[in-house]
Amino acid sequence: MIRLEGVAKSFAAGQRLFEAVAPTSLHIGQGEVFGIIGFSGAGKSTLLRLINLLERPTAGEVWVGQQRLDLLDAAALRQARRRIGMIFQQFNLLHNRSALDNVCFPLRIAGLKEAAIAARARQCLDIVGLADKAEQYPAQLSGGQKQRVAIARALATEPKVLLCDEPTSALDPHTTRELLAVLRDINRRLGVTIVIVSHSLSVVRALCDRVAVMEGGRVVEELPLRQAQLPEPRSDAARRLFEAA
Ligand SMILES: Nc1ncnc2c1ncn2[C@@H]1O[C@H](COP(=O)(O)OP(=O)(O)O)[C@@H](O)[C@H]1O
Ligand SMILES: [Mg+2]
Repeated sequence: MIRLEGVAKSFAAGQRLFEAVAPTSLHIGQGEVFGIIGFSGAGKSTLLRLINLLERPTAGEVWVGQQRLDLLDAAALRQARRRIGMIFQQFNLLHNRSALDNVCFPLRIAGLKEAAIAARARQCLDIVGLADKAEQYPAQLSGGQKQRVAIARALATEPKVLLCDEPTSALDPHTTRELLAVLRDINRRLGVTIVIVSHSLSVVRALCDRVAVMEGGRVVEELPLRQAQLPEPRSDAARRLFEAA
């Protein structure tokens, strides 16, 4: 479903280049829930943003489905991105729009008819359990509810992939568990492939089939998470993350 082949990202830092992500290859299967874990600054967000070309790779290939995204022109990329939803730690909702209007937004951009837009947006709010909050504004919603509106918005264009950058890091433990249940449900019921970045082992353990451990811009280890027993980490970074949990 998702194939990164030797992708790398360098940023200009004065006269030099800073390598935020070193050449990395990752394969994520259709319907898989894949975690990316690491301490702050490890390169997790940059790697995630390479998947939908929010960051343009300085090397390598980005494949989603049958498409090589890094070769698409702007119009084709916009089209391809409708199949890749994304949510963020700080929700990134439009504050002066109702929950329903936030979910309508990507559908208007996609050029759907107004009647179809409203119907689809309500359906998406229903999927995340917020049908009764459609007319509320973000300020009237709790953190967990705001993130669910963001998920509904991300699902509006029927993506095959959902990218999640620290989606629970602004939420309390109870709300975190609720939100993870929503994501699990979306994966199981809709078959959406999920890639989730977190610094928390308990979050990726609760949700993911596999996890990539990042440190210093590199994936230092990939671990399966479906068995009851946590696998023995080989990398120093994974050991420290496991201890911190
Ligand atoms: N747009 C940017 N310009 C310059 N440096 C960046 C940019 N984005 C990220 N970086 C740097 O790349 C490294 C990895 O960042 P990031 O991917 O955000 O890490 P993480 O999400 O794991 O905390 C950090 O050192 C960060 O400062
Ligand atoms: Mg980050």
